[in-house]
Amino acid sequence: MEQKLLAIQNKALEEINAAVDLDMLNDIRVHFLGKKGELTSVLRSMASLDPSERPRIGQVANIVRDRIEEQLNQQINTLRERITKQQLAAEKLDITMPGTVFELGRLHPITLVTRQIEDIFLGLGFNIVEGPEVELDYYNFEALNLPKDHPARDMQDTFFISPEVLLRTHTSPVQVRTMEKMAPALPVKIIAPGKVYRRDDDATHSPMFHQIEGLAIDSKITMADLRGVLKIFAEQMFGIDTKTRFRPSYFPFTEPSAEVDISCVICGGKGCRTCSYSGWLEILGCGMVHPKVLEMSGYSSQDASGFAFGMGVERIAMLKYRIDDLRVLFDNDKRFLDQF
Ligand code: DAH
Repeated sequence: MEQKLLAIQNKALEEINAAVDLDMLNDIRVHFLGKKGELTSVLRSMASLDPSERPRIGQVANIVRDRIEEQLNQQINTLRERITKQQLAAEKLDITMPGTVFELGRLHPITLVTRQIEDIFLGLGFNIVEGPEVELDYYNFEALNLPKDHPARDMQDTFFISPEVLLRTHTSPVQVRTMEKMAPALPVKIIAPGKVYRRDDDATHSPMFHQIEGLAIDSKITMADLRGVLKIFAEQMFGIDTKTRFRPSYFPFTEPSAEVDISCVICGGKGCRTCSYSGWLEILGCGMVHPKVLEMSGYSSQDASGFAFGMGVERIAMLKYRIDDLRVLFDNDKRFLDQF
């Protein structure tokens, strides 16, 4: 019987040492020490022993049980410790590792330039207004002194939606809409940024591009005011040393009309490839609002006068950031856009 007990002990200890998790140890406990366990059944058979043998065998059985229990508990502790260590290792954080970089969005150069231009004119007392991109022929042409058969309509290759509805070819219709709304109140001082559309698509033209329109109407506005405002604009936009010059031009909605050049942003006026060796770069069209345009929108050309101008935002952006291909502004190549 003693042999049997020792064999159980050895088997139990062996199994305990081989156990790799707490469930296995629990099974082992039940298997050896449980009510129907191996040790228990040996102890039950002690009744058949000679009474003189019982105390000694009983003592051996107790020792075996204690030994198994002790080993079980020890192995439980060892496993628990190992599990904790594994958990800690799994949850370990390397706080010296470089973090995940979240890329920030940024403003498109057209938006940046639009906002800069808006800021300059806000500083000069102008308000910002907007108008529709799908426009009536009346506002885009007719009320700007471009009747249906006017040859100057050809300059603005138009996307027509129907004979009377089109995609605006310039921001000038916002002038008319603003005057209609305000007349006869004075003064009117607005700029109107927005998208415009023309049937053009090549290296220097895009079918959609951006303009900013300006309009100032008051009782005594002269061309000197126009010159002053645009001089300040050019100096703030391109640097204080920038020179401006007016060249006579023609627009149906202004009289007189002019085109404005600034001294070349690359060579400062000495002459280089960018300015075709002229020293000057054209930046916008402008003029004194035509009396007919004033009258059609509800102002008396006796009591009110004003100036207007219109510029292409892409062109300003290209000059400002020295971009020589218009198309990069529309390609949305992140490597290009990330530079702004
Ligand atoms: N609307 C003209 C264009 O798109 C630009 C322009 C010229 C606007 C003279 C004006 C102006 O307001 O007075 O070509």
